[in-house]
Amino acid sequence: MVAVTLDDFAPIGWGILSTGHIASVFAKDLAILPDEARLVAVGSRDQSKADAFAQEYGFERAYGSYAELANDPEVDVVYIASTHNDHFPSAKLCLEAGKHVLVEKPLTVTPDEAAELVELARERKLFLMEAVWTRTNPLIRKAAEVVASGELGAVRHVAASFGFAFDGEESHRLLDPEQAGGAILDLGVYPAHGVNLFLGEPDAVLGYGSHASTGVDSHAAATLVYLATADRPAATASVLCTLEATVPTRLEVFCTDGSVTIDSFIRPTEISIRRGNDRDIEPETAITQLPGGGYTFQAQEVMRCIRAGELESPLVPWASTLATMRTLAAWREAVDKGVA
Ligand SMILES: NC(=O)c1ccc[n+]([C@@H]2O[C@H](COP(=O)([O-])OP(=O)(O)OC[C@H]3O[C@@H](n4cnc5c(N)ncnc54)[C@H](OP(=O)(O)O)[C@@H]3O)[C@@H](O)[C@H]2O)c1
Repeated sequence: MVAVTLDDFAPIGWGILSTGHIASVFAKDLAILPDEARLVAVGSRDQSKADAFAQEYGFERAYGSYAELANDPEVDVVYIASTHNDHFPSAKLCLEAGKHVLVEKPLTVTPDEAAELVELARERKLFLMEAVWTRTNPLIRKAAEVVASGELGAVRHVAASFGFAFDGEESHRLLDPEQAGGAILDLGVYPAHGVNLFLGEPDAVLGYGSHASTGVDSHAAATLVYLATADRPAATASVLCTLEATVPTRLEVFCTDGSVTIDSFIRPTEISIRRGNDRDIEPETAITQLPGGGYTFQAQEVMRCIRAGELESPLVPWASTLATMRTLAAWREAVDKGVA
């Protein structure tokens, strides 16, 4: 018989690193899980911002530096919600201080940095996950299960797009090279992860796009090439991300015996599954309710893994993150190079 103690039910202590937009959204979702999550501390580069955040979202302590947050003994896991350029140093800081980490997307700016964090988590026996909340959504999990079961035949093509016409200032993090802005790192990470879920890592990335006046990529598309393997025929994927036009947030998986369409695939509330190739066939739909802003599934998966002693989540495994980081790097390189 396995002994169960009251500690097994103690809420997991969360720290939030930074006080920006997504930190607030996630903090609100953690607050609707009071039996599972304890809001221990927030850290900011600015003490007054940390104080205001702690007051507004109900955190017990507020620190004016990320290092103090990382060293709070009652914090079990730190959610790193800072700008892209800061993910690597802050995740390293927290792992070295013995904390589990959930790091906003993309995990880092480069594949080498991502690999270094994975090695550090493995060595220190700490949990690490890229916050690709989409992959923890129950409908995305359902779609992945249906396709993986082979019920719809072999995957031949996946199409995924995400983008909007951005009219903010040039100093905004999305356009600022110092903050590792750009469409691919910020938006393209979702289509790239969406394709990875159904096809894995591509054998080639044929990308093209253009840059904003600040120098970051602002519009980018790519064809991803999958050579035939013993388990599946050759396949293709198309990914699009842009800060210059409003395009559908849509993921479609086309298989030999059916297809799956997921609108608003970042945060879906509905999926359509077509079985067979009759164009007039009515799709089956599955619908889900999203508690709060839709981030509770991700928070609960992190806490499940930590309680179970798992260092990585099967929903966002390290291999998927590392493969996606390599895809993003190849896509950015292709856009920077242009057409030869
Ligand atoms: N999962 C999602 O749905 C989702 C949605 C939006 C964004 N994101 C991701 O979340 C992260 C943050 O995005 P956001 O929209 O929340 O950004 P934001 O509102 O600009 O907040 C970013 C925070 O990063 C901290 N920071 C650390 N170094 C910085 C630097 N050099 N310059 C500016 N700020 C710095 C700041 O916190 P302090 O001043 O308190 O230190 C700032 O408030 C990004 O990785 C983004 O890709 C995810």
